[in-house]
Amino acid sequence: MTSPTSASEPVEPSLEALVSQTLGTATASELAELLPVLVRDLSDIDWRLQQVLGSTYTQLTEAARYACSTGGKRVRPLLMAVALRALGAESTRPIHSLAAAFQLIHTATLVHDDVIDHAETRRGRPSMPRAFGVPLAIVSGDYLFVRAFELAAEYPKSIILRCGESCADLVEGEVLQESCRFDLSTGREHYFRVVERKTAAIIAAALGSVAEIAEATPPRIDALQAYGRALGIAFQIRDDLLDVYGDPDLLGKPLFTDFREGNPTVVSLEAYLRLDPRRMAEFETLFQLRRKRTKHLLRLKELTDSTGAAEVVAAEAAQWADRAVQALEPVPPSPYRHLLERLARGAAERRF
Ligand code: IPE
Ligand code: IPE
Ligand code: MG
Repeated sequence: MTSPTSASEPVEPSLEALVSQTLGTATASELAELLPVLVRDLSDIDWRLQQVLGSTYTQLTEAARYACSTGGKRVRPLLMAVALRALGAESTRPIHSLAAAFQLIHTATLVHDDVIDHAETRRGRPSMPRAFGVPLAIVSGDYLFVRAFELAAEYPKSIILRCGESCADLVEGEVLQESCRFDLSTGREHYFRVVERKTAAIIAAALGSVAEIAEATPPRIDALQAYGRALGIAFQIRDDLLDVYGDPDLLGKPLFTDFREGNPTVVSLEAYLRLDPRRMAEFETLFQLRRKRTKHLLRLKELTDSTGAAEVVAAEAAQWADRAVQALEPVPPSPYRHLLERLARGAAERRF
């Protein structure tokens, strides 16, 4: 077990750098005047999140702070802030606690996901189970969920229910994924059922909640939910591609987790079905190995490369981004709606 304090601390990019990277350089300069506004929004949300992490039990406080201190890309809070502004709000104050709640729920699921996936690193440093051990990682994840609901309790019952429903979806997604580990016969339908629950549902719920708080019309609430769902699917497809083709330093997590853990993704499923029978059998045998060595992982990648699956999957992510953009139609055009469009495209094209 690595001591969390002895781990070399990655330098976390500033919120400004994070937002610029997420929006893409062209957009960031195009919309330069919006950047400080969004950075301020994220900083207020971060502050609200940090406020609820304290426990009388020091080790738990330390673990919770560790899980949240390298805060990730903050895609969900950013989407919530931009969506509220796209609906005409002058201030994002009404959603600071809610965005902190959704970010805590997201972080809690990553902590538990790293236990399930035996992940060594997350956000550029030892994962929670690696840094604190599995038992403390599990209870810290639970603790983050509970603190998230403390924040959600500031809102009407319908919003709390949306938070609860998205947690149930996340758990179902993990359980469904677990049910087809090492099994390439599960097929794409099963993959999409998993992704809708483990990734898209929380983004859809976060944006639906924002629209409800903004007292948006039902078509606009539906639009933002549909946008969040499609963006979430694009985001996860891209994540699955990056697991094979990304830069681990940029991602802050190792490559080949899905091959190693036997999680069938759109990448492995697409590649598998494109192979000739002999190579298909080889792919399946390697994929099913419970303990894979580096040479097995590299061979799985090599077989994947030979099929052209990466291009097909990248195009599929772009299609989901298009669907997200189309779903925004009932939201009135504005610089913030334009940002939502950019964020959808960014989800499908991102490198980190
Ligand atoms: C990682 O989410 C898990 C997926 C849904 C793919 P993010 O990529 O948003 O993680 P952080 O918060 O930036 O670390
Ligand atoms: C993301 O799943 C975790 C959840 C959305 C609950 P993955 O296992 O695909 O994500 P990473 O690659 O660990 O971030
Ligand atoms: Mg994982």
